[in-house]
Amino acid sequence: MRRPLVAGNWKMHGTRTSVAELIKGLRQLALPTGVDVAVLPPCLYINQVIQGLDGKALAVGAQNCAVEPMQGALTGEIAASQLSDAGCTLVLVGHSERRQILGESDGVISRKFAAAQSCGLVPVLCVGETREQREAGKTLEVVGRQLGTVIEDLGVGAFSRAVVAYEPVWAIGTGLTASPEQAQEVHAAIRAQLAAENAEVARGVRLLYGGSVKAANAVELFGMPDIDGGLIGGASLNADEFGAICRAAGN
Ligand code: 13P
Repeated sequence: MRRPLVAGNWKMHGTRTSVAELIKGLRQLALPTGVDVAVLPPCLYINQVIQGLDGKALAVGAQNCAVEPMQGALTGEIAASQLSDAGCTLVLVGHSERRQILGESDGVISRKFAAAQSCGLVPVLCVGETREQREAGKTLEVVGRQLGTVIEDLGVGAFSRAVVAYEPVWAIGTGLTASPEQAQEVHAAIRAQLAAENAEVARGVRLLYGGSVKAANAVELFGMPDIDGGLIGGASLNADEFGAICRAAGN
């Protein structure tokens, strides 16, 4: 059985004050046993969050890492080794906001994936299609290519220590959620693509759904056979709502 994972991506939200409030809320949550829970604050607040959540069974990760694994001359970036040194255990790579707004290519994302793993972090590879791509019937092709680049570059074995998050771009921050059936179709295709290379890796890898997940739709989504939890944006900024989503993953 795959252990569910719920991760809260705070994106570029927060101030020292609001982060302190959120930490307080998270500390008070009754989290389900049997579910891994993580939060991914902006880098600036990672230390504050790790200190604030000390003793709470909650992992902390980052939203991005540099293509180079080790510290060095790369202005403005943060190395996976530094994230690991700070106490992070996971990192997002290839979030659609970075692919679209910052032009991150599949090749760059593969390098970040490798950098993360080389420092002992679990990369969470984000994939997903735009509304235009879905309407053109290209969803599985687009997601297959995003996943395929990492398989080609690093080998399928890399996914024995990674997570994949399917996040349809049209569902992110829009209030539109993929139906459980739409999400399941893509999750099954992702697992099949991995299984074509290595059945054991495919069986073990956790596939998260992201895109307007709330407590109200989480149970249905997490009930699908190939959905192993969620990557939560907006709703993760509210501790009570996030806690309810985590409990939905424990059902
Ligand atoms: P929302 O939950 O706000 O739609 O964001 C999803 C997301 O992009 C998480 O990475």
